[in-house]
Amino acid sequence: MTSRSTLLILCFISLFVLVVGLKDASTQLEQKPADEYIKNMEKPDRVLKVNEVVEKLKLKPGDIVADIGSGSGVYSIPMAKAIAPNGVLYAVDIDQKMLDYVAERAKKEGVTNLKTVLGEYDDPKLPVNVDVAFFHRVLHMIERRQAYVNSTAKYMKPDGRIVIIEKNRVDSPDSWMWLNQSDVDNWMAALAFYPAEKFAVFDDRYFVSYQRPYGNSVLLKKKKEMEKKGE
Ligand SMILES: C[S@@+](CC[C@H](N)C(=O)[O-])C[C@H]1O[C@@H](n2cnc3c(N)ncnc32)[C@H](O)[C@@H]1O
Repeated sequence: MTSRSTLLILCFISLFVLVVGLKDASTQLEQKPADEYIKNMEKPDRVLKVNEVVEKLKLKPGDIVADIGSGSGVYSIPMAKAIAPNGVLYAVDIDQKMLDYVAERAKKEGVTNLKTVLGEYDDPKLPVNVDVAFFHRVLHMIERRQAYVNSTAKYMKPDGRIVIIEKNRVDSPDSWMWLNQSDVDNWMAALAFYPAEKFAVFDDRYFVSYQRPYGNSVLLKKKKEMEKKGE
């Protein structure tokens, strides 16, 4: 091989590495180092509503739940407790350090039904189908949000719930990254998931459970109730 063709191959490989690197770096918005995240996520005012949120979900022992973008496990641990002993909580994150932290925290608290999953930027890579996929303040951080919602739908049981807690954009320069509920509604409807329950737990964010109209879906229960009342 001539030195010219070797040089050409090296240039091609460098370009490929650069393009792949740039693509990955651009698929998360404002991702922070794990240590910084952990400090922020566990601030007392940030965890005030955790129990109330988990209660609203009405999880049952035996449910299979994915906490997507689990961070420091603020929601993963109480949800794992709510579905114990035979339910499994999958804590999904793209940062292995966060997952190690959650696993350690579960061990300290005697939680044995929590498993960690290293997800990909566009796919939670769950090993099984789930009853609930829970996102608290995560979806807005993902650049290809609709692609992520589409991947998540593949892992849902027929009447599984995708729960989204996010902030609507407001007229302020620092809210460009937030996520309007109307956008989420449209992406979900394209997958036949519809708002089944809305919970007024937060003043500054929406909390919506999306479901398909199958099996034990709340959507079907509501429809039957309305039919009974003759509406
Ligand atoms: C703002 S924190 C929220 C953590 C947790 N849900 C909470 O409310 O306490 C966002 C988390 O999502 C993770 N994350 C960002 N992009 C992700 C993706 N594409 N898939 C899974 N996790 C992601 C981050 O690493 C971080 O741990």
